[in-house]
Amino acid sequence: MYGVDVLLEEHKRILEFTDLIKRICCHILEGKEVDTQLLKECIDFGRNYADIHHHGKEEKILFRYMIEKLGPVAEKLVRNGMLVEHDLGRYHLGEWEKAIEQYEAEAKTEYKLAIITNASGYADLLKRHAAKEDAVCYAFALRMLSDEDKERINQETEQFEQEKAKVIQEKYLVWLNTQME
Ligand SMILES: [Fe+2]
Ligand SMILES: [Fe+2]
Repeated sequence: MYGVDVLLEEHKRILEFTDLIKRICCHILEGKEVDTQLLKECIDFGRNYADIHHHGKEEKILFRYMIEKLGPVAEKLVRNGMLVEHDLGRYHLGEWEKAIEQYEAEAKTEYKLAIITNASGYADLLKRHAAKEDAVCYAFALRMLSDEDKERINQETEQFEQEKAKVIQEKYLVWLNTQME
C-alpha cells in the first residue's frame, strides 16, 4: 500500500538520523568540541522532516482515517500512543534547542549535559516509536482499513508528497546523506 510504504521508507531515514544523533553525542562525551551549528541543523531536520513532514503526514492522513473508521481500539492506539509520543518528541526538540542556546551563551557543563540528555532521549524515542508503528500501528491499519479507504489514503499521500517532495528531497535528504558519508 503506497500510503504506508512512504511512511516505512521515511522511518529508514529517521533511523539513520537517530544514528547520527547518537554519534554526535558520543563525540561530545569523548571530549570533542560542541558543534552548535551541526546540532541546530539536526534540530531543523527533526522539526521539518521527522515532525512536520513525517508525523504531520501520519496525523493528517493515515491516523485520521484510523480514528474515523476503525473504532475505539484504533482511537486509543493513535491518541494515547502515537500522538502522545509525537508530542514528547516536540518537547525534547524544544529542550534540546534551549540547551544549545544556553551553551552558546555560556559554555557550562550542565548545558552540555542537557544537550546530550535531550538529543539522546529524542533519538531513543524516535527509534522506539518507529518500531511500534511498523509492528503494531501500520500493521493494524493494513489489516483493518477497507480497500476504498486505503485508496483514499494513497491519493492524499500522493498529493502531500507532490507538494513537499522538492524541498524534502533537495534540502533534508541531501543534508542527511552528506552527514552519513
Ligand atoms: Fe508517528
Ligand atoms: Fe512514523
